[in-house]
Amino acid sequence: MTSVGAAAGVDLTGRTAVVTGGGSGIGRACAIRLAQAGATVTVVDLDEAAATATAQQIGGTAYAADLTDARVLDELDLTGEIVVNNAGFQHIAPIEEFPPEKFTALLRLMVEAPFRLIQRSLPRMYAAGYGRIVNVSSAHGLRASPFKAGYVAAKHGLEGLSKVTALEGGPKGVTSNCINPGYVRTPLVEKQIAAQAKSRGIPESEVIDQVMLAESAVKRLVEPEEVAELAVYLCSEAAALINGTSLCMDGGWTAR
Ligand SMILES: NC(=O)c1ccc[n+]([C@@H]2O[C@H](COP(=O)([O-])OP(=O)(O)OC[C@H]3O[C@@H](n4cnc5c(N)ncnc54)[C@H](O)[C@@H]3O)[C@@H](O)[C@H]2O)c1
Repeated sequence: MTSVGAAAGVDLTGRTAVVTGGGSGIGRACAIRLAQAGATVTVVDLDEAAATATAQQIGGTAYAADLTDARVLDELDLTGEIVVNNAGFQHIAPIEEFPPEKFTALLRLMVEAPFRLIQRSLPRMYAAGYGRIVNVSSAHGLRASPFKAGYVAAKHGLEGLSKVTALEGGPKGVTSNCINPGYVRTPLVEKQIAAQAKSRGIPESEVIDQVMLAESAVKRLVEPEEVAELAVYLCSEAAALINGTSLCMDGGWTAR
């Protein structure tokens, strides 16, 4: 099969990739794009049916797991030369009402699970002299918004993990970077619209323009395929010197 990736100059034939949260949204788009570039992809997701659907579409493998479960993380038997740490969720509440168990789950899913996957995969990457860790962070890895204490804290933690990984892995052919999208058109964002409207006391119709795109100079949501294209580029040889950085795809939000 001539892959789209090979045609575009990114050929990942023979590489093995793990994509968390690959059943939906950005993770699904990344899994599809990595497979198009020739990689063999394991799709990890809480939602078994969604993981299976993506895996079947791309000739990959589905792996159902709740990455907020400490025992699951202890037993996680997954490695790849490419790891896309993408699974995430959002919880919106003022700090004084923020459920501590949600805070813990956000940190476990978006910091500890990436740490465990990186820890397990590095020996394989070092042996290959090639590794790519793509951490799907957020504009909220670099900036804060009210009512998102768990998410913002976790994404900032992921940024730190990514930088340390970059410094340890760099000499051995392994890069680690964050991608920092603004609001992307996915189910995660669709779920937030109602919650944001409630927290801010504004109609749902105003949430996209007045809250989500308020700081972006480009007045549209990011598409998941745009994030996936950057993720695949980071996996290429051409991106070997992009390491330990955070690449914003936010329409200019963080330029402010
Ligand atoms: N959508 C956005 O606007 C946006 C912006 C910036 C960053 N992000 C980040 O992108 C990533 C993907 O978000 P998305 O918008 O595609 O969301 P999504 O809800 O469409 O997909 C997230 C996937 O993660 C899976 N998941 C959730 N909890 C899990 C768990 N405990 N264990 C395993 N899998 C789990 C879900 O089942 C789902 O398939 C997240 O880390 C999110 O923070 C999203």
